[in-house]
Amino acid sequence: MAAADQQRGDLLQASGLPEMDDRQFACWASLLERRTGMTMPPERKSFLVTSVGLRMREVGFQDYDAYYRHLQSGVAGNLEWAALVDRLTVHETRFFRDPAAVQYVADTALPERIDHGQDELSLWSVGCSTGEEVYTLAMSVADGLARHGSTARFGVTGTDISLQALSVGRSGVYPARRLRDIPQTAQAAFCEPVPGQNHFRIKAGLRRRVCFAQMNVLNVHQARRLPMDIIYCQNLLIYFDWARRQAIVDGLAQHLRPGGLLILGAGELVRGHPEQLERVTDAGDVLAFRRPTQ
Ligand SMILES: C[S@@+](CC[C@H](N)C(=O)[O-])C[C@H]1O[C@@H](n2cnc3c(N)ncnc32)[C@H](O)[C@@H]1O
Repeated sequence: MAAADQQRGDLLQASGLPEMDDRQFACWASLLERRTGMTMPPERKSFLVTSVGLRMREVGFQDYDAYYRHLQSGVAGNLEWAALVDRLTVHETRFFRDPAAVQYVADTALPERIDHGQDELSLWSVGCSTGEEVYTLAMSVADGLARHGSTARFGVTGTDISLQALSVGRSGVYPARRLRDIPQTAQAAFCEPVPGQNHFRIKAGLRRRVCFAQMNVLNVHQARRLPMDIIYCQNLLIYFDWARRQAIVDGLAQHLRPGGLLILGAGELVRGHPEQLERVTDAGDVLAFRRPTQ
């Protein structure tokens, strides 16, 4: 994040964008926190100014206050907010980003469920960005089920606040260089070249197992409950303060079926222990919590 912010700082100097004074920065940071939960400390001011400033100029506003007022103005403001959020969120991700956690799902969580005779599995990637995490989970589960000779059905849902990121996920098309993150066997089974382009596509069979929807994780308590076997939430909580992290984790726990797992990124521990969950102690470095069965 620091290198990206430095680049933004350099870009800001070169861009000739107007100065954002302290009052304006406080207003923008507060708007962002209210609507997305993300905290914007002063050291990330150049990131905020560049993101807001460049978008503001694209849509024809010359000053931050006028653009801020526009964002509060009904339907047009809401549409513009959706576009701005894409600029203000960090979408960095990759296939098989956390191999240990993926392996834990495939080698432990999945066989446990198959052994219990479960014939349907639901997984959820929260803050899924452009979909690499969703397809990683789908590839691992499809492969694990095949290895265990199981005919269980499964689905992976990806949610994110960014519509633009979700549309990439829905397309299932990625630059060819991203293939190197995917194990060879999974490349052969689940990926195909896009003719005439330096891109590959996730094969239709796997794309049918996933779906994408917009959801602000701050609203997790209001989201419809479809009991999940595994909720995967990585590299999202880091953007929130401790109280919000705790509230989000407690909200996610409500969506787990008894015995279901919440898997966070290593080192993303919330301060207190998630209320309704118990820590999985045999998962090595993987930060996993289970909803007790009773
Ligand atoms: C750094 S990416 C993490 C992607 C993926 N989980 C991974 O670990 O590779 C963080 C994602 O969280 C999303 N995000 C940020 N605030 C959010 C919110 N309030 N609700 C839902 N998604 C949010 C961003 O749009 C971004 O795509």
